[in-house]
Amino acid sequence: MDRRNFLKSCGLIAAGSAMAGPLAHAGSLFEEPLALPDGAEPLKGLNLPIRSLEPKTDRQISVIIIGCGNRGNTYARFAESYPKAVKIVGVSDILEHRRTRLGDIHGVKPEMRFGDFSEVFASGKKLADAVVISTPDDRHYKPCMMALALGYDVLLEKPIAQTEKECKDIGDLARRNGRIVAVCHVLRYAPYFLALREAVRSGLIGDLVSIQHMEPIQYAHMAHSYVRGNWRDSKETTPIILAKSCHDLDILRWIVDRPCKQIVADGDLYFFKAENAPKDAPMRCTDGCPHADTCPYNAIDIYTRQKAHLGVFDLDGNYDPDFILSRLKDPRYNSYARCVFHCDNDQPDHYVTNMVFEGGITASFTMDAFSPFGGRRTRVMGTMGFIEGDMTQFTYWDFLTRKPKYWNEEVAEVPEYAGSGHGGGDYGLMRDFVEAVAAQDASQLSSTVDVSIESHVMGFAAERSRISGRKETV
Ligand SMILES: NC(=O)c1ccc[n+]([C@@H]2O[C@H](COP(=O)([O-])OP(=O)(O)OC[C@H]3O[C@@H](n4cnc5c(N)ncnc54)[C@H](O)[C@@H]3O)[C@@H](O)[C@H]2O)c1
Repeated sequence: MDRRNFLKSCGLIAAGSAMAGPLAHAGSLFEEPLALPDGAEPLKGLNLPIRSLEPKTDRQISVIIIGCGNRGNTYARFAESYPKAVKIVGVSDILEHRRTRLGDIHGVKPEMRFGDFSEVFASGKKLADAVVISTPDDRHYKPCMMALALGYDVLLEKPIAQTEKECKDIGDLARRNGRIVAVCHVLRYAPYFLALREAVRSGLIGDLVSIQHMEPIQYAHMAHSYVRGNWRDSKETTPIILAKSCHDLDILRWIVDRPCKQIVADGDLYFFKAENAPKDAPMRCTDGCPHADTCPYNAIDIYTRQKAHLGVFDLDGNYDPDFILSRLKDPRYNSYARCVFHCDNDQPDHYVTNMVFEGGITASFTMDAFSPFGGRRTRVMGTMGFIEGDMTQFTYWDFLTRKPKYWNEEVAEVPEYAGSGHGGGDYGLMRDFVEAVAAQDASQLSSTVDVSIESHVMGFAAERSRISGRKETV
């Protein structure tokens, strides 16, 4: 049974979930792949750096998790799988029940359980080899600067920080203090993207000329995260082109392998605003909405019936619909019960970006809320061939032979990455981070802060262009 079917049959989580139940993110693992052309043969022989997730190291590194939510739990779970290589020795979260839960799983001493991130650094002493910073977007810069000042290596969730200057500050301090900062651009570590990039780099399609890349967010995921949830306000967090799609800009920059020179963007918030609310829609879906049966964004349906995106409700394994409903009515969680037309959101629900890279290579990127599936879809155009993929498999057409070939994890005999979100990228990154810290060698990482800043700069430029209507030089 392949990984897709294995996860499907277990009803297991998809990309990015940690504490969630049945469906943390209804996403690409649950859709059918793009159909393969008749007669397609396996594409073998790509030279891929894909290997077991077990870190190759004789040294156990110690880590403090700062932010014990979805992402913090994801990275901590890696330590449960590979305890010889990494130990969680500290936890920090402003929510007591979250740090207690994670602290108990890892046997963290009472004196190493912290509230606000500043408490981790208050003693002025370094208490572990590394910290994982998985706090909300507006709480990356300060803990990262504090950690670097004390000599920690850092696994830093994306986006790096909220402004270009702050991103550069982090890069400068990391360089000055000789520290490793790995940014969680996890897609770089996913076997699918490693293979897609290698197919381009190996010259299969001749010269790379152009890429079309799409990030379909999936309508319920959009409502959960960018209308009702944590990333709804671009000023509190970051503009959606960074909050959601810095991965995509990063992947494009990484595949093209040349600097981006110019970027232009358009898009806005079309749908999720008060003027589109149906007549008599109450403020919350739990207030007896007359449109409940005709609204695909109905919170009661998404959470209690579809059981999607449950990671935010601290359910501790109780997926009973009545219990989930009680959470939706609980003031601690009821922001997720809000009518999608009555939220304090400003993130665009459609966003298009065109880029020109050095040498005239172009890329277009579309982020869209209104799709039935998540994941990514990519077409790569070269002078001698074409590639089309959906984040689980891709097809390659050779213009000379006219014979299609396909690549997926079975073709490449990828070792089992089950349980690792983002197409295996979450654990692939953790493995490389653990090895890099143990060996004190940042070159083992492909998403160092320096390269990651470049794609963040593209994101900030895109947002300036979207607002001003001008082309931006990067
Ligand atoms: N790499 C990826 O693909 C990916 C995917 C999802 C989210 N993210 C990013 O990861 C980060 C965390 O996202 P999440 O989904 O885990 O969010 P989350 O809300 O589940 O977890 C964040 C945790 O940080 C805690 N926290 C808040 N302020 C704190 C403080 N001052 N000190 C200590 N803890 C504090 C919160 O209580 C919460 O438990 C965000 O920046 C997000 O954008 C990255």
